[in-house]
Amino acid sequence: MTENLRPIGLLAELTHRCPLGCPYCSNPLDLVRANQELDTKTWERVFNEAADLGAMHVHLSGGEPLARKDIAELTNAAHLAGLYTNLITSAIGLNAQRLTELRSAGLDHVQISIQGIDAARADAVAHYKGGSRAKRDAAKLVVEDGLALTINAVIHRGNIADVPAIIDLAEELGAGRLEVAHVQYHGWAIPNRASLMPSREDFMAAAKIVEDARKRLEGTLVIDHVIPDYYAERPKACMGGWGRQVIVVTPDGRALPCHAAATLPGFAFDNVRDRSLSDIWEKSEAFTKFRGTAWMPKPCQGCDRAEIDWGGCRCQAFAITGEAAATDPACALSPDHAKMREMAIADAASTNTPYRFRRIGG
Ligand code: SF4
Ligand code: FES
Repeated sequence: MTENLRPIGLLAELTHRCPLGCPYCSNPLDLVRANQELDTKTWERVFNEAADLGAMHVHLSGGEPLARKDIAELTNAAHLAGLYTNLITSAIGLNAQRLTELRSAGLDHVQISIQGIDAARADAVAHYKGGSRAKRDAAKLVVEDGLALTINAVIHRGNIADVPAIIDLAEELGAGRLEVAHVQYHGWAIPNRASLMPSREDFMAAAKIVEDARKRLEGTLVIDHVIPDYYAERPKACMGGWGRQVIVVTPDGRALPCHAAATLPGFAFDNVRDRSLSDIWEKSEAFTKFRGTAWMPKPCQGCDRAEIDWGGCRCQAFAITGEAAATDPACALSPDHAKMREMAIADAASTNTPYRFRRIGG
């Protein structure tokens, strides 16, 4: 490692089990089964190793982290390690008793996903009846309990018209933060892309609404806006740059630089069962391969944004071009940019086909 980089956060995918079946889930198509999951003790060690490495917060994620019977124990272990604890949840099963247990265990923050405004349509996307009502009830409990609440809304063709009402709902629920996150095309979103992609016009209209609301609600509600790369001119610094800010640990213990890295061919991903987190962070092939700028091809090499976006997203580059080291096609300087834009336009114009819902073995 040439720089003394330290991760800011750990994304702990505690399980891939989940009651919902969202067709844009960022988990891999090949989901990890319950009998392959890390046990409580191993997670406890991982939390301590992450804190020793310099991480400040842990996202207790999944799948649905509440599917772990030991979720309170895990929360407490992360809290005792000195990490700020954020539960990323569908909120299914998050009742008052559960919330009290988690709060006593040291939970700091809850992020609840919503699928839209109309309950029937939202439940249809989540593939779970009654989910919409349960999420609103849980969000109220979180705020009443004095915990910090973020609402996460993944935006796609089926709910892009709901953006103004989603902003109103986040305000009404008392959230401190709202993530308006357009679908990122990884995991289950790739086979569902043609049914999820909005038109560029709808995206631009929604983006204006979000930007106006950001100004209007400044000081009341923080709005994070994640735009669809397919309509961008420059890529995002995916995960803050490869191997720079975040470590993802999968339910079976693989340590990855991002949640989709396992889709890249030719990598051996080290497992926290066999190797310490600091050793993996500092020396593993997976974390060092695309760290920094030396690996970059032209036009990234020498580009004045090379240390701003760190070349964008490796997984997206691979998904579109077949080359993980290619310039992210979200960049207008990439030779594959036009191809990516054409894919988006064709997808947005296509008729809806039934979603392929996320499920183990699906
Ligand atoms: Fe970013 Fe590379 Fe495009 Fe420059 S050429 S803006 S570094 S993706
Ligand atoms: Fe893997 Fe962007 S999702 S680098």
